[in-house]
Amino acid sequence: MEVVETCAEMSRLSWSSDRPLGLVPTMGALHEGHLSLVQRARADNQTLAASIFVNPTQFGPNEDFARYPRSLQRDLELLDAEGTDLVFVPPPHEVYPDGFDTWVEPGSVAEGMEGAARPGHFRGVATVVAKLFTIIRPDRAYFGQKDGQQVAVIRKMNADLNLGVDVVTMPTIREPDGLALSSRNAYLTSDERETAPAVYRALCAAEDVWRRGERDAGRIQRAAHNILGREPLIDAVDYVSIVDADTMQPVETVHDGRPVMIAVAVRVGTVRLIDNVTKL
Ligand code: PAF
Repeated sequence: MEVVETCAEMSRLSWSSDRPLGLVPTMGALHEGHLSLVQRARADNQTLAASIFVNPTQFGPNEDFARYPRSLQRDLELLDAEGTDLVFVPPPHEVYPDGFDTWVEPGSVAEGMEGAARPGHFRGVATVVAKLFTIIRPDRAYFGQKDGQQVAVIRKMNADLNLGVDVVTMPTIREPDGLALSSRNAYLTSDERETAPAVYRALCAAEDVWRRGERDAGRIQRAAHNILGREPLIDAVDYVSIVDADTMQPVETVHDGRPVMIAVAVRVGTVRLIDNVTKL
């Protein structure tokens, strides 16, 4: 496995590597969710590349950039064990050199939910992913459905800018109690960890109401709010949203055959938990 720190060297190695090349972009602190992407990318491609870069531009001024979990040595060992060929680990100035001043600004797909709660977040994500796609030119790139709006933003950018990457979405990996795996789960205290599965229970309650025939988005959302409202350690429910699965625009009625995403974001202590399920 080659560990590469510069854009020039990463381009040189990836452009001359056997094709197809699959890329798994990450911010490190790898868990089973990331590894499911790596394993799928390994199976699908001749060359497997990953990136580990805690992207400063997708964090707001009061967010957790400084304390975001970092475990580079362990991450490299895990990637090596999965048969990764190339790992891109650039220092920040390599990605954002002095004078960097060009951004990818996603449109309406990035306006609601995480976009509203975290202004500028998706501009940072879209910009860094566009840069990774340009530096590495992958045939396929792999992302987890856990960050469902992020996937929609990346798909739209990839289409609108003709980047030509096959964007592959992989299912959310969960703990046995339903909590979606996330690097940020490491911040939860033990009490908060006990509360956290309520997010998935709320999504399941909403899904259950839908399965039983309810199509009014407001009533489906209420089923999720009822579960979340019983949890004293949930300090705030940022949103329970039902949106079109491609455009991320809110829907009032769930129409059969038109995929929607039911998404939740809550704050538990200092931790923000997000999760979603998709429905046909
Ligand atoms: O999902 C992540 O880990 C990040 O948002 C990504 C896609 C690697 C961009 O920094």
